Amino acid sequence: MIPLSEPNLGGNELKYVSDCIETNWVSSVGSYVDKFEQMSAAYCDVAKGIAATNGTAALHISLILGGVQRGDLVILPNITFVAPANVIKYIGADPLLMDVDKDTWQLDTVLLERFLATECEVRGGYCYHVSSGRRIPVILPVHVLGNMVNMEALMTLAESYRLTVIEDATEALGSTYNGKPAGSFGLFGCLSYNGNKIITTGGGGMILTNDEKLAAKAKHLTTQAKASALDYYHDELGYNYRLVNILAAIGVAQMEQLDAFIVRKRAVAEMYSSALKEVPGFRPQTVTANVNPNCWLYTAAFHRSKELIAYLKEHQVQARPFWVPMNQLPVFENDVYYNNGDISGEVFGDCVSLPCSSGITDEMVAIVINKIKEFYA
Ligand SMILES: Cc1ncc(COP(=O)(O)O)c(C=O)c1O
Repeated sequence: MIPLSEPNLGGNELKYVSDCIETNWVSSVGSYVDKFEQMSAAYCDVAKGIAATNGTAALHISLILGGVQRGDLVILPNITFVAPANVIKYIGADPLLMDVDKDTWQLDTVLLERFLATECEVRGGYCYHVSSGRRIPVILPVHVLGNMVNMEALMTLAESYRLTVIEDATEALGSTYNGKPAGSFGLFGCLSYNGNKIITTGGGGMILTNDEKLAAKAKHLTTQAKASALDYYHDELGYNYRLVNILAAIGVAQMEQLDAFIVRKRAVAEMYSSALKEVPGFRPQTVTANVNPNCWLYTAAFHRSKELIAYLKEHQVQARPFWVPMNQLPVFENDVYYNNGDISGEVFGDCVSLPCSSGITDEMVAIVINKIKEFYA
């Protein structure tokens, strides 16, 4: 089977993990945690990185510190992996689902502008959804598939409507908008290092921020809100969300290779896009203007997408459909879905992700391309 997106652990991973084991520094503090945090912050051009057990935990803490409270609404794209939508619910808030752009598949900032202008008002320093009377303290753009949201438009709207921006940059580590890294625009940016991401620690996440006080607070909350190094005094509701040293060691080794992984991902994307352009109905994701993407997960619209996925599976090629849009999931079906003709539903129906691990060979890419051409012949 040619896998969709598998880990690439050919660097110093084993050496650094062995170092943790030999020195007995395997748990939630250690030099690799510090180093991984520093490397991630420097790479994303922010002041601080706070490692977390996974991207979902990073989002959870960011939303709490971003001021989201029970009963609030948080603006979220309708096409996303489910984690940020779940996290909003953990707090007792609800996502306000915004449809996506038909070409870039990112949160549609034109639609967002119309929504804010016609359905919202600012009072007392906060944005309110007029018909429900609910506060909207935060907007949570998700940079889907390594492409990015139109951040210029989004940041301008966020400022005008007093929305705090928390970026889900879990898929976009290494992508930039006008040269500025994904995850560095908002009050917080969140990363994930699960097994299929551009770099992995097996499971892990990172909170990015330029706010030193909030960074200290994030570290506090992820460490059970333990107020004293000695006593078991916990001064608020805390979480056990710290990434362990042994996983951070893998992260340091992965960070050393990130630039090379991105080069390979971009080359693979280019191979698919140029070889498949003659396939009828083929439509790759349009890169948002001013974005240099990391090309994390190569995805394109195809005719008869579900049949294509089944055909590729039969021929030992792992391909995947896009995420089911949030408004189609039982947990979120009663949440507001703002759209002008359900683009999310169309994108979901047509899109297929193709194998694009950073370790994939040119021969494997050629096999995938040939199988796709064979299917449409
Ligand atoms: C867009 C998005 N947000 C959040 C997450 C959650 O990250 P994790 O699996 O590390 O909790 C992921 C990946 O899994 C993701 O793709």
